[in-house]
Amino acid sequence: MKNQIHLFFSIACFSFLFQSCNSGPNLKIDTNNYQKKVDSLIKIMTFDEKIGQLNLLASGWDVTGPVMDPNYKQLIKQGKVGAIFNAYKVDYVADLQRLAVEETRLGIPLLFGYDVIHGYRTIFPIPLAQSCTWDLAMIEHSDRIAASEATAEGINWAFAPMVDISRDPRWGRVSEGAGEDTWLGSKIAAARVRGFQGESIYDERTLLACMKHFAAYGAPQAGRDYHTVDISERSLLEYYLPPFKACVDAGVASVMTSFNEISGVPSSSNHWLYTDLLRDSWGFKGFVVTDYTSIYELIPHGVAEDSAHAGELALNAGIQLDMQSSIYLKNLKNLVATGKVNETLIDKAVSDILTAKYKLGLFDDPYRYCNKTRQENEIMTQESKDFARQMVTKSCVLLKNDNQTLPIPESVKKIALIGPLGDADVDMLGNWSATGLAQNCVTLLDGLKSEGINKNIQVHFVKGCNVNDDSTYGFNDAIKAAKNADYVILALGEHRNMSGEAASRTNLDLPGVQLHLAEKIIELGKPTAVILFNGRPLTIPELNKKAPAILEAWFGGVESGNGIADLLFGKAVPSGKLTMTFPLNVGQIPIHYNMKNNGRPVDPTNPEYQFRSKYLDSPNEPLFPFGYGLSYTTFEYSDLKLSASEITNTDTLLIQARITNTGNFDGEEIVQLYVHDLVGSVTRPVKELKGFSKVFLTKGESKTVTIKLTTNDLRFYTLDMLYAYEPGKFEVYIGPNSSTGLKDSFLVK
Ligand code: NOJ
Repeated sequence: MKNQIHLFFSIACFSFLFQSCNSGPNLKIDTNNYQKKVDSLIKIMTFDEKIGQLNLLASGWDVTGPVMDPNYKQLIKQGKVGAIFNAYKVDYVADLQRLAVEETRLGIPLLFGYDVIHGYRTIFPIPLAQSCTWDLAMIEHSDRIAASEATAEGINWAFAPMVDISRDPRWGRVSEGAGEDTWLGSKIAAARVRGFQGESIYDERTLLACMKHFAAYGAPQAGRDYHTVDISERSLLEYYLPPFKACVDAGVASVMTSFNEISGVPSSSNHWLYTDLLRDSWGFKGFVVTDYTSIYELIPHGVAEDSAHAGELALNAGIQLDMQSSIYLKNLKNLVATGKVNETLIDKAVSDILTAKYKLGLFDDPYRYCNKTRQENEIMTQESKDFARQMVTKSCVLLKNDNQTLPIPESVKKIALIGPLGDADVDMLGNWSATGLAQNCVTLLDGLKSEGINKNIQVHFVKGCNVNDDSTYGFNDAIKAAKNADYVILALGEHRNMSGEAASRTNLDLPGVQLHLAEKIIELGKPTAVILFNGRPLTIPELNKKAPAILEAWFGGVESGNGIADLLFGKAVPSGKLTMTFPLNVGQIPIHYNMKNNGRPVDPTNPEYQFRSKYLDSPNEPLFPFGYGLSYTTFEYSDLKLSASEITNTDTLLIQARITNTGNFDGEEIVQLYVHDLVGSVTRPVKELKGFSKVFLTKGESKTVTIKLTTNDLRFYTLDMLYAYEPGKFEVYIGPNSSTGLKDSFLVK
């Protein structure tokens, strides 16, 4: 590792083969035999045919950048395309596949990629929301359903998971990730790879996963998407890279580059990242695809003079499949002829891409993902929708609940639902919602009405205002509706396109006049619960001061309204916990729970003392810390016990605590374990998550939770850049979130 770090910072049928594939049992897929088949195929490929395999084009739907080659069908027929993205539906995919298989000399099938980020048609909560479930099996299963639906419509490659750690909620793409924590993010990353790829990629209901965006895309300066990343090597290795390593260890089939630079080197020309680290050190065996036109973008980055130079830098760095810029197609021949690129690198790229096609079984049957029966019967099944509904209930986070405002009391018969997101359908999908349809979304109004019918509850909806303008046209109607009701639900937040790609914000307050509307309604004094819909943490200190109850619902996908209604009426009890800190104000950003202490931390005995690390105009503490989330019931933590007071590298430390449900509902608690390495050869965070346990407790019940720790869990990049633990004293905390908990300590020998 040391060398790599040093390196990084010092470099600032083939018709006949195909036919026979279909004709004899000996040519059926043989997992041990890909390489031989791939090698023999490569031997008969012309140079142009090889280059064709390195070209990935959009079919023209859902593009997020310039379409460089609208002529993609013609190019497929000419053998100049190896993969297509944004094409789905069996007939369409089969048509395109036919062009590759029947009209090119070798008949090499195409890969079909798509952004399957949080569901395919059954859209689940956005990934940030999913991470708040802390439920790895549930997250894995949601991606299994997504894979199954996508493969039923022709897709065999998902551009997911996005495993970018981010500590900056201004960055709109936090909605696509698992939050700020590396440890939890790594577990979720591996679960997602398992979900997409299953036991075998050859299974027709699984597909290739693609970890993205390698690397550190979540740390752009000022939270502005695509912007420069300039972080220390230690932060890169310790906080941003581990989720990618977890994906590689889980056998991820592909990786996508990131748009950003790190330390002056854009990802798509970063030899250290893609060759030394990913391949040589981590042993990654899949293929590398660019994010969109990122080879071309080496020119505006200012490291390439022109397209040819950009292609040279990218290929030599280890970047294999060119999405949308067609730079390889147009330049590789000349680059090889002039000796700037070695053909062996091209062969290696072709080999990795063909291997993926073999693994998918495309050489057995190029149309195996084009199955109409599956398309008709396996998408949006009742079972998938039920699962999606349950996932909504687990991903919502109860932020405040004064006087047990929630759940809605049985006595309530007239509800006023007020706010611009109360009956919003398409917004429930969140961003990157694949083939999700607005008409399939259950809005909050739908959910409340269908739950309320049996209970004789009337729901009166008034929009009140728009999400993001300054008109107060609907305030009077909203106030009237609230006055007539015995309970008020405020549905506030962002539009779905206010987070996601190219959706950074500098102001994280509720947009438009929504806070103003909320204040007018809350001051009427009715029991009022706020439901927030948003793709990132917002700054809501005023709302938090005034609203009796706040439920963070994110964007929950097609079953949003039903899942939220389950929680509001007490059919389900909130258990989600935040995976990203909610700042008090934008000035605190970047803010995350695992910060360093620094040399002048605020002195709790004299917090006013001037020359300490603090603000003149704001506390250091966030509004809601990482790990935070309430339940309708309450949990008491007691009896923290450690199995030993000292451990060595052969021991497993058992950390136990007793959790008691002291409230009036059965409920689930996410018990969290944090450690603090008190003295290191380099400074260590004040707390680091190292384990958790989800425990279900009926009213009055107690259970002892045990979480294990070994010295492996205590490793970090030391002063010498060794990934190792250091002996010494560690504090350990077990608690309901990152800011509080029972505390003890142990020694590592
Ligand atoms: C750009 C995005 O950054 C990436 O995440 C996505 O997979 C590609 N576009 C393809 O749509």
